[in-house]
Amino acid sequence: MIDLQLTDKTHDEGRQGEALIVDAPKLLNARKLYIESYGCQMNFADSEIVASILLDQGFETTGNYQEADAIFINTCSIRENAEQRVRNRLSQFGIEKRKNPKLIVGVLGCMAERLKSKFLEEEKLVDLVVGPDAYRDLPQLIEQVGDGQKAINVLLSREETYADISPVRLNGNGITAFISIMRGCDNMCSFCVVPFTRGRERSRDPHSILAEAQDLQDRGYKEVTLLGQNVDSYKWKGTAEAEDGAEIMVNFAQLLEKVALISPELRVRFSTSHPKDITDEVLHTIQKYDNICNNIHLPVQSGSSRVLDLMNRTYTREWYINRIDAIRNIIPDCAISTDIIAGFCSETEEEHQETLSMMDYVGYDFAFCFSYSERPGTMAARKLEDDIPEDVKKRRLQEILLKQQTTSHYRLQKSVGKTVRILVEGFSKKSDKDLCGRNDQNAMIVFPAAENVKPGQYVNVIIERCTSATLLGRITA
Ligand code: SAH
Ligand code: SF4
Ligand code: F3S
Repeated sequence: MIDLQLTDKTHDEGRQGEALIVDAPKLLNARKLYIESYGCQMNFADSEIVASILLDQGFETTGNYQEADAIFINTCSIRENAEQRVRNRLSQFGIEKRKNPKLIVGVLGCMAERLKSKFLEEEKLVDLVVGPDAYRDLPQLIEQVGDGQKAINVLLSREETYADISPVRLNGNGITAFISIMRGCDNMCSFCVVPFTRGRERSRDPHSILAEAQDLQDRGYKEVTLLGQNVDSYKWKGTAEAEDGAEIMVNFAQLLEKVALISPELRVRFSTSHPKDITDEVLHTIQKYDNICNNIHLPVQSGSSRVLDLMNRTYTREWYINRIDAIRNIIPDCAISTDIIAGFCSETEEEHQETLSMMDYVGYDFAFCFSYSERPGTMAARKLEDDIPEDVKKRRLQEILLKQQTTSHYRLQKSVGKTVRILVEGFSKKSDKDLCGRNDQNAMIVFPAAENVKPGQYVNVIIERCTSATLLGRITA
């Protein structure tokens, strides 16, 4: 059986729920908030906004839901099993609610937005349903629940970016952090629920993004990841203070450059790029700055032009290959990762083979692979038949996963014998005698700890061997 849990830190929307706590001084009589997040990093970043709003209201976070006054679950709708996981978790929280009727149970995020008031009908224990653009309303909604009512706000916004709210860094390592640079998505890929749950695409004011990155740098952070569903379409029009209020336009390449210029010691990553929008200008910017990591997440979804058309991805196999060639030409040592969907509506065996041959062509360093899950309300659910039998989807997914395992291993092996510069993130999960960190290409490296080496430092490590997902080495000069 192949391990389906292929995950990394920047992009794992199938991620298990994690309780997020903040290390802050304890307040007397503070109400305790337990917040658990599912889904993509944007959701995790949003939970930090929510925590910031509620900390201002006198809440403090706890990692133990059994002692909480409010339990919030920030949910994901991307596939059916993501929603199922949330429902299972809610039934566990129901046990607490029965013990303590004053406990507030709130559902946030994409499932809240998708199901709206239906959630309150379906899940009787839920008091509060709040969509991703309505978090500013939380204090008032919580008050409403305190008065014995159910509360809901699922209004989507064309403007909200929470630009002025400084996120409370939850469970952070103090070294790496995420910065949302935009919200929503206008792409309408036919399989995807995100445009419905997150609303229209909007870009955040670059001044607030730069201020947040600068603040992180000042507090000793060493890496920021710029987040958006489609970072390449970042576009901001506004006035520049430094230029007498003249109108300026900032695109993604320019934003990336501005963040990179904050300090050569601050690494910059970003996710997710869209094959139809990633420009050579972005690639040249990555190439120009050493601190912009050579790692691009470019979801292909399928290797077949006909399936891509049905998916409404608006690019062909040839276009995607052209973008891969551009990456290889401009940034020769760039790591490339992807997302793949197996068994989309009407996908033939030959078209599945085209996905496998695309994988051979690119040689992805890493891939998130899913079998197609029909989502209510999407274009595919309305117009196309989900006609690939489950066992065929599963078999195709296994073939994709197997190929990826082989390729990932091959990619890692190519690093053996090389010396790489890594940012130390902390102790390895398996042993406190080992430290771990990532290289420019986002590969995880584990190496024996040394007295003078601390998390947050950059060190050179010579790679001695690798397992299927990790490089192992030792510190060198
Ligand atoms: N904005 C990103 C991806 C967001 S969702 C992009 O456009 O690439 C993350 C991944 O989940 C997608 O890339 C896709 O591979 C997968 N996904 C989305 N909807 C899905 C569905 N209905 N069934 C299976 N996988 C899906
Ligand atoms: Fe979904 Fe497509 Fe938008 Fe990605 S680009 S979030 S897959 S609609
Ligand atoms: Fe899931 Fe919503 Fe992210 S559906 S993947 S949490 S945008």
